[in-house]
Amino acid sequence: MTLTPTRPTTETLSVLRRAASSPQHSAPVGTDPSVVDWVATIAALATPDDIVWCDGSPAEYDRLTRQMVSTGTLTQVNPEHRPYSFLARSDPSDVARVEARTFICSETEEEAGPTNNWRAPAEMRVTLDGLFAGSMRGRTMYVIPFSMGPLGSPLARLGIQVTDSPYVVASMGIMTRMGTDALRLITPETRWVRAIHSVGAPLAAGQRDVAWPCNEMKYITHFPETREIWSFGSAYGGNAVLAKKAFALRIASVIAREEGWLAEHMLILKLTNPRGRVFHLAAAFPSACGKTNLAMLKPSIPGWHVETIGDDIAWLAPGADGRLRAINPEAGFFGVAPGTGPKTNATAIDTIWGHTIFTNVALRDDGDVWWEGLTENAPDHLIDWQGNDWSPTSGTPAAHPNSRFTVAASQCPTISDDWQDPEGVVIDAIIFGGRRATNVPLVVEARDWEHGVFIGATVSSERTAAAEGVVGELRRDPFAMMPFCGYNMADHWSHWLEMGSKLRTAGNMPRIFQVNWFRKGDDGSFLWPGFSENARVLEWILDRVEGRTPAVDTPLGWKPVDGGINLDGTSVTTRDWHQLFEVDPDAWIAELEGTDDFFAEFGDRLPAALTTQLTDIRRRLKLSREN
Ligand code: OXD
Ligand code: MN
Repeated sequence: MTLTPTRPTTETLSVLRRAASSPQHSAPVGTDPSVVDWVATIAALATPDDIVWCDGSPAEYDRLTRQMVSTGTLTQVNPEHRPYSFLARSDPSDVARVEARTFICSETEEEAGPTNNWRAPAEMRVTLDGLFAGSMRGRTMYVIPFSMGPLGSPLARLGIQVTDSPYVVASMGIMTRMGTDALRLITPETRWVRAIHSVGAPLAAGQRDVAWPCNEMKYITHFPETREIWSFGSAYGGNAVLAKKAFALRIASVIAREEGWLAEHMLILKLTNPRGRVFHLAAAFPSACGKTNLAMLKPSIPGWHVETIGDDIAWLAPGADGRLRAINPEAGFFGVAPGTGPKTNATAIDTIWGHTIFTNVALRDDGDVWWEGLTENAPDHLIDWQGNDWSPTSGTPAAHPNSRFTVAASQCPTISDDWQDPEGVVIDAIIFGGRRATNVPLVVEARDWEHGVFIGATVSSERTAAAEGVVGELRRDPFAMMPFCGYNMADHWSHWLEMGSKLRTAGNMPRIFQVNWFRKGDDGSFLWPGFSENARVLEWILDRVEGRTPAVDTPLGWKPVDGGINLDGTSVTTRDWHQLFEVDPDAWIAELEGTDDFFAEFGDRLPAALTTQLTDIRRRLKLSREN
């Protein structure tokens, strides 16, 4: 089967090249021919009316946002309250990532594994050919060159996205290092990622456009072997801003396995303790479990200084010294708005003072934005995310639960001075967390790397609004990567085990921890205050890394001794403390039955080390029940 789409005729190519009459419309001088030819090929398939090569300049962003205000895609937020900011209201059918429509088209189904939707590449290419043929008619196709990671960093990777959505161009401009500088880095030797996006809403001559064009039919497809992404029908977040989940996680996870590094759904934090020692942490949590809040933590305990490096994605690779280093491949934050307020994340509130795109939040009568959790009381009147009048008695959320802010990381007041270090920062500890009302303790340290990989493989969380599905239902989310691993999840675990062996041989590996901020007491209320108080748990973790604090052996790992976490000034009682660390062997043995079933889905690709971990934990739980 030949590669999709069919190559354009020489005639089509020359038409396109002749049409390239101004700098905006023609490939910048020196553009690698592989890029020029590919763009022409996609244009020949999708037949846009025009092609614009994005340079990533502020003038370009200004032009695009003005154009979107005039077409109704964006509403300008009152600049007196929030300068240079915009509100987009999506189509009500296009509000979240669509996991059921996300496909991994690896050569074999086994390679994609049981947790991904797989389609044979040849079959999918036929489908996509049909969908993309003429899909950009009446629209402009924008060519977006971008770098994931600091430009020129040995850890960075390059890509080109074409899209017919100016909203996506503006978002890519915030979320990546986008424009001519990235394009210049592409040479004939570069294996750049090809990302094709269409909202799937061609316009007939004279047809009026809608504010948020999209298509009921959605396909978010990945071809790991050829490093291609084809996305059709949605303009929302990870479905459309293909640099993020599609490239930096799904495709990058495959590249990382090939090349011996890791692409993970993790925030990165820099912490300085009261004695001036600097640490870096990487932490994986499922979507909408507070990664952005933790990445912008304002510690409640004195003497600690916390800085932000990334809030969603980490690329981790052993450095020349054999130590694990990490970069944030993104350049912006695409944060969930509801629940973000001065008490939960004051830093985010300071970050979005202006120059921010809001999507699906509510609009106040004074022209500023609002969402649930921004202020204690809702205003008396709002325009809700669907553009309707809203009052506190409306009985519906004013902002969509998955409404977002898109903002440059450089605007974050706590951004660390090493966030763009091309070599990455040395990672001292890795944290896995989920949203668990029961069973999982506030914090434990893994016995060793292999136990840490088991902890990662068994992360589970209640469903959130970031993805479609029933909110509240428990879902397994190994490594918080269930929707984002571009290959067989069991092979991902094997890859982690191999990375551990390499780091161990090099003599320096991060310690692994599990946390759970969300455990509930008998009365259904949270046992742990969370947010800025999470600094107390991080303090314990880093004291462990420094060898400054003892720990107690439990069937689930090492837990703090009583008094090991400073609780002064919190509302946590001794009873809460014991409940936070309670291990009910029967409940755990039942939970491990579920883990057994889950592991069985992977057949003989499941690494033996994880079966050994399961057996060991069962044995330790049984022993603890007998004692
Ligand atoms: C995100 C997600 O948008 O994980 O970051 O869904
Ligand atoms: Mn995420």
